[in-house]
Amino acid sequence: MDIQAEIRQLKEEKDAVILAHYYVDGAVQEVADHVGDSYFLSKLATNVPEKNIVFCGVSFMAESAKLLNPDKNVIIVDPLADCPMAHMADADRIREVREQYEDVAVVCYVNSTAQLKAESDVCVTSSNAVRVVKALPNKRIFFIPDYNLAHYVAKQIPEKEFIWNDGFCHVHKSIHAEDVKKAKELRPEALVLTHPECTEDVLLLSDFIGSTSEIIDFATNSDNREFIICTEMGVFYELGQKNPDKKFYSVGHRQFCPNMKRITIEKLLNALRTMEPKMELPKEICDKANRPLIKMLELAK
Ligand code: 13P
Ligand code: SF4
Repeated sequence: MDIQAEIRQLKEEKDAVILAHYYVDGAVQEVADHVGDSYFLSKLATNVPEKNIVFCGVSFMAESAKLLNPDKNVIIVDPLADCPMAHMADADRIREVREQYEDVAVVCYVNSTAQLKAESDVCVTSSNAVRVVKALPNKRIFFIPDYNLAHYVAKQIPEKEFIWNDGFCHVHKSIHAEDVKKAKELRPEALVLTHPECTEDVLLLSDFIGSTSEIIDFATNSDNREFIICTEMGVFYELGQKNPDKKFYSVGHRQFCPNMKRITIEKLLNALRTMEPKMELPKEICDKANRPLIKMLELAK
């Protein structure tokens, strides 16, 4: 039996659903039951009927699935697949800001640890951040951990006051404006589609800014035939599946998230065989960290 057939058989036998992010390898996306951006995957995780969720993505994504489904087993295909940005904020700093400004809302990008979520008021993803922050009654926002996403959101909501945190995604930060300009010179007809974790100079060169799903939807619905993609390479799989007659170009060799690429089809097979390792979180963290996620799902509706 080939590896894909064995995966399909095991997930039936074990009452498991496979969720995958667009940045994992194409072979993993192909065998997954659902592939999406962080928002789609969090929403979906709240109402899958299967008892076991096998998560193909970095650990904060599996943590969110567990926080929203404490009674289900969430299996993380590789527990070492960790997003460095998820750690780039500090719980003590959050408490300090709260003491300084009692009207502040702590807004936490889902790319964060459960410990940081537990200290926050509401979570956001790249596709709902503007909507959720606008919906908050608070004027003052402490946005953690990503500076670039915070800046992108703040520009669209000038009536709010932002307190900055200096977290970043090393993959998106390494997409340089100079490289985007060069790509544009080579492909003048191409539209530039960019993830908001990129730096502002790259956003300013872009025709469209959005989450991974939004980038895929934009390219799919566009009459244009060529696109320069400023996000991680994994999205090329779905872009190609949905648009076999369109052309997609990368900006350089750096659009590669080494943590997402730890999720291989062999490890997925192993996770289904053993149903290990399971995502476990201390109850006191779970109780606190699921509130901002649930609030996000309500405000983003
Ligand atoms: P999305 O929310 O667009 O899926 O992005 C997640 C991510 O990790 C971006 O680097
Ligand atoms: Fe984290 Fe960046 Fe990888 Fe997304 S692309 S998982 S933000 S390191």
